[in-house]
Amino acid sequence: MHTQGLVEKLAERIRRGGPITFAEFQDAALYDPEAGFFTTGGGAGRVAGDFVTSPEVGALFGTLVARYLDDAWHRLGEPDPFVVVEAGAGRGRLASDVLRTGPACAPALRYVLVERSAMLRSEQRELLTIEPADEALGPVVLSTDPDDDEPQRSRGRRPGWRSGATQEADELAPGTGPIVASIDELPGIAFDGVVVANELLDNLPVRIVERTGDGWAEVRVGLDGDRLVAMLVPADATLAAEADVVAGGAKVTPGVRLPVPTVLADWLAAVAGVLRRGEVLLVDYAENGAGLAARGQGRWLRTYRHHERGGDPLDAPGSQDITCDVSLEYLRSIATRAGFVVADESTQADWLTDLGVEALVEEGRAVWRERAHLGDLAAISGRSRVGEAAALLDPDGLGSHRVVTLERTVR
Ligand SMILES: C[S@@+](CC[C@H](N)C(=O)[O-])C[C@H]1O[C@@H](n2cnc3c(N)ncnc32)[C@H](O)[C@@H]1O
Repeated sequence: MHTQGLVEKLAERIRRGGPITFAEFQDAALYDPEAGFFTTGGGAGRVAGDFVTSPEVGALFGTLVARYLDDAWHRLGEPDPFVVVEAGAGRGRLASDVLRTGPACAPALRYVLVERSAMLRSEQRELLTIEPADEALGPVVLSTDPDDDEPQRSRGRRPGWRSGATQEADELAPGTGPIVASIDELPGIAFDGVVVANELLDNLPVRIVERTGDGWAEVRVGLDGDRLVAMLVPADATLAAEADVVAGGAKVTPGVRLPVPTVLADWLAAVAGVLRRGEVLLVDYAENGAGLAARGQGRWLRTYRHHERGGDPLDAPGSQDITCDVSLEYLRSIATRAGFVVADESTQADWLTDLGVEALVEEGRAVWRERAHLGDLAAISGRSRVGEAAALLDPDGLGSHRVVTLERTVR
């Protein structure tokens, strides 16, 4: 189904049920099973993609995330299994770089990619060896079969190895990681570990509100003839209360719009439902409510297509990415409501600096100096590190992303 088909489908829905929320529109534009942007091949990538994310800049970001994961593993007391769920994992570039680094937690690691787009899930197989999900999430158990003399986890199933949470009496097999699995939504079972999400939040659908003289109105998507148009309806009390949280106490003048990330609130509550003990690492476009109000909808709601800024968000749904900055006050509020403690907040530039990016760049420079005349792979990746760091730390670009770490201790 092409863009026109999706417009007709949405128009039919609006004719039957009335104007839809912007979140419903955005969900269809990005994830419609036939014509959504991410369903039909949109996504991150340095060359062929529609936008560049930190993992797609190069391997350096994954190297530093691997350090963070090792730190978190130590903080948690080195659990085995150590489950890392990467939400919105795209084509698996971050996972692949983390694993290539060979982190200390690798023998305990069950790395679960969660990606909504079936096309991107299948692309992950080009970068990673993906095992059945129950091998990552159910305990892989060591065989008690005396004929099974190979004390390692096998790739795929073979006699002598079984998996499943019900086999508690059997000996758990520690040190059998890393095991990588891929699923389309958060796992349904509780685990200890870390949830990582790089540039997921800005792709979760938002509702939009506009300040009026006496409160908030909601911006919905309706029809003008056959054309999709924005229209205002009164905001219900729940949405108005959430809008106040997004504003974070800032004075918002009539006519100013703000995004209310209701789907993010649901997602974070779902994470709280499965993460028994551990951390959530969120890296994304975010800013305080006053900043969002000052910048206006044209700046916090953006579209991208083939590395260029796209058109109006209501134009050609399915053909462009639609992303939205997150209010920091709202993020803190929903995190607390879900039972998390906000452990740390910084910019990506500061966070990567704390993880030791400068020393890695210096190392890269030294390799380049020594081997430039050879022009081999080591020399080139040494030089590439310098450029990657500049992009990842750029205060006007990826370096300004917010990094928020949440902790979950007791249940
Ligand atoms: C901007 S891309 C980022 C991809 C990758 N993390 C990166 O940094 O390159 C956002 C990804 O999140 C996925 N996504 C959106 N909502 C999701 C959800 N509820 N669960 C899992 N994946 C989701 C999209 O399909 C898309 O691949």
